[in-house]
Amino acid sequence: MLRRTLLFASRDERVRGVVETLPPTRSLVTRFVAGETDEQAVHVAAGLVAQGLRATFNSLGEYVEDPARAATTRDGFVALAQRLADSGLTGPAYELSIKLSALGQLAGDGHARALDHAQVVCAAADKAGVLVTLDMEDHTTTDSTLAIADALRRDFPSVGVVLQAALRRTPADCADLARAGARVRLVKGAYREPSSVALQRRSDVDLAYVRCLRELFRGTGYPMVATHDPRLVAIAAHLADRHGRGQDGFEFQMLLGVRGDEQRRLAAAGYGMRVYLPFGPQWYGYLMRRLAERPANLLFLLRALAAA
Ligand code: FDA
Repeated sequence: MLRRTLLFASRDERVRGVVETLPPTRSLVTRFVAGETDEQAVHVAAGLVAQGLRATFNSLGEYVEDPARAATTRDGFVALAQRLADSGLTGPAYELSIKLSALGQLAGDGHARALDHAQVVCAAADKAGVLVTLDMEDHTTTDSTLAIADALRRDFPSVGVVLQAALRRTPADCADLARAGARVRLVKGAYREPSSVALQRRSDVDLAYVRCLRELFRGTGYPMVATHDPRLVAIAAHLADRHGRGQDGFEFQMLLGVRGDEQRRLAAAGYGMRVYLPFGPQWYGYLMRRLAERPANLLFLLRALAAA
């Protein structure tokens, strides 16, 4: 019920107007969002990298149909890559995470347009010496996103892609990409999907995640283990050990503001640990989804409200 209310609030402009003006909102935004501008996000990333972590930038905003806006999003990523290069912040510690729907993937001729735009972004990232990974959106986009990742890897072999353990097709996709030596970020999956394409029980998704991890660690690619789940983190560390991966042969990834202590613990233990940094003016919907995900996050909001 509470979760549904927060998810409703994440889409309602009037509620947005109220929440944005609440004094505690600022501290919550800083916890989960790396700022409204490129400059702020780059500052947060540089701070994390100075502490031995890695960063991936996610410019908030998705589902762009207007071709002019899709081109603006592309140019935003190019400018971010340029800013990183100009600031001397380059190398594999820095990565751009791209949602293809923000590059127009879902419009009429969207597949071709998103591929063109992603190619421009990858070229800029390559020149700047930073990595790119394609986020995965709902199941109607999976084929297109995997095809675009495949096409991009011909020119930019380090391009990574997200796979969602919840989808029934994912073990087969993992096997393909593990054989192809790709960088794969494995997540549980954030979208509500029909049972025809996705597992519905959390325990089944967890089992599928483990099955996919096994596939990825057996293969020749670079697994990116994106979860806050302590059991899955422990299983990934064990599999890495068993397959002689070494701590450079894979990495963990978590969201900004979620299990920060664990992020620092893993980095201090010598593991690659990348923090996903959402940023941009469209932070409101993202923040409400984070609050809806976990009662403890909501308590954080209520405590901040009480203290205000
Ligand atoms: P889940 O939410 O099931 O939590 C499992 C356990 O983790 C909990 O029981 C608890 O022990 C611990 N935990 C979780 N949150 C915690 C918190 N706030 N504090 C303390 N403990 C906590 N999805 C997608 O569909 N497409 C994508 O492209 C991406 N990209 C992406 C990148 C990165 C870097 C991450 C980390 C995640 C994504 N996701 C995603 C989101 C992903 O699909 C998923 O919705 C979230 O990561 C939540 O799932 P968890 O695996 O963390 O476990």
